[in-house]
Amino acid sequence: MSNPASPQSTQLLEGVGSTFPPGFVWGAATAAYQIEGAVAEGGRTPSIWDTFSHAPGRVLQGHTGDVACDHYHRFSDDVKLMAELGLKAYRLSVAWPRIQPDGVGPGNQEGLDFYRRLVDELLEHDIEPWVTLYHWDLPQAIEDAGGWPARDTASRFAEYAALTHAALGDRVRNWITLNEPWCSAFLGYGSGVHAPGRTVPAESVRAAHHLMLGHGLATQAMRAARPDHEVGVTLNLYAVSPQTDSPGDADAARRIDGLANRFFLDPILRGSYPADVVSDLDAVTDFGHVRDGDLDTIATPLSFLGINYYSRHVVAAPLEGVAPEPYWRAQSCWPGSEQVRFVTRGVPVTDMNWEIDAPGLVEILQLVHRDYPELPLYITENGSAFVDELVDGQVDDSDRLGYFDAHLRACHTAIASGVPLRGYFAWSLLDNYEWAWGYTKRFGMVYVDYDSQLRIPKASARWYAGVIRRNGLTAQ
Ligand code: FCB
Repeated sequence: MSNPASPQSTQLLEGVGSTFPPGFVWGAATAAYQIEGAVAEGGRTPSIWDTFSHAPGRVLQGHTGDVACDHYHRFSDDVKLMAELGLKAYRLSVAWPRIQPDGVGPGNQEGLDFYRRLVDELLEHDIEPWVTLYHWDLPQAIEDAGGWPARDTASRFAEYAALTHAALGDRVRNWITLNEPWCSAFLGYGSGVHAPGRTVPAESVRAAHHLMLGHGLATQAMRAARPDHEVGVTLNLYAVSPQTDSPGDADAARRIDGLANRFFLDPILRGSYPADVVSDLDAVTDFGHVRDGDLDTIATPLSFLGINYYSRHVVAAPLEGVAPEPYWRAQSCWPGSEQVRFVTRGVPVTDMNWEIDAPGLVEILQLVHRDYPELPLYITENGSAFVDELVDGQVDDSDRLGYFDAHLRACHTAIASGVPLRGYFAWSLLDNYEWAWGYTKRFGMVYVDYDSQLRIPKASARWYAGVIRRNGLTAQ
């Protein structure tokens, strides 16, 4: 996607009209490892995140997902809370090691039953379940057999997807194969800041390919079983802009947009890798892992694209006179473009230090719609971490509320310009385990006291409930 926006476009979108189209899907999202806990119950075996979080020094303060929000035991109350907030849809993920503890073989009944009960509870409260099959918790057994850099993992994923779909398909009709394959591949096998923590650039590129191949195979299997189901994938897309209009900065933006966005969008929606990114990766891989027919499988038609949007990358050319590190030592999540500089502009940021950039969401929605037309789009995650304070039993998170408001106005602007955006899932329902940041970052609309496991809806949750009730925002 070309056409980066002006880096100054950070002001909130004010005065935009407020009503969303009828039937707009209002939801919230979570992921299994971030909330479930109960890691050794119901036949579940370790995933790469159990191994990684228990390894010294990998996660801030040594936090693990062993207990998390204890949602495995409290799901029924959590669903009641969702109903109180008026959610129309809930995006959850299934933990692969609950379903296939050894990474192969028939489904583990206890694991499938847990998700059946959860889904039934949702349906009883008129909340539509949206199920993500892979939100990063690869069974450790599969990592031990090679993980995502190994081709076989793609077939294993498709088997797992097919059996989960067969077990839940009578009550779940919305399916997301993968969450953010960029993170699985490039944080998991490139920079190593996510599980399994490997740092081999060529492996990260292979992992990306096999994730997408697994997505294609799983999509085919689910489509064959139930052609009327909605099947999509979720990508984390970024608005990308150059720091200046110099050719070097423009090239940096092209590279980062290439790896972050087009390296996944093009294969999945067009059946080809972007030529410029393939050439950027020359020193890293010869793409010998791509076999005939793979790209056709990867491009199996989708019902929708899920977009997770958080921020913008502003980038600049490598500094002159600084010798590039050999790529294999770089431990970067940007293989082949390790020297690109990420710059900050001094605009407001969240507690993750991510720039707040709602216009970037309009931009990304319009670019996707322009470059990959016809596809219904959903925001499957959008949200912000801020330092929350519990005062007299209340959390007044006006900063998070403002973030949601600005980004929903951005969604509205995009829809008004013709983008087929059909729904929005706030990240996240609950404060939860934020991967390598452990419990130090709070993204929830609902505050979780991790000692007592008490849930306290923040001001943003009550506000969001009003948005859902009105199917829109109030005038500013
Ligand atoms: C996304 C992840 C999600 C959460 C948010 C903050 O990249 O999909 O699990 O960690 O970021």
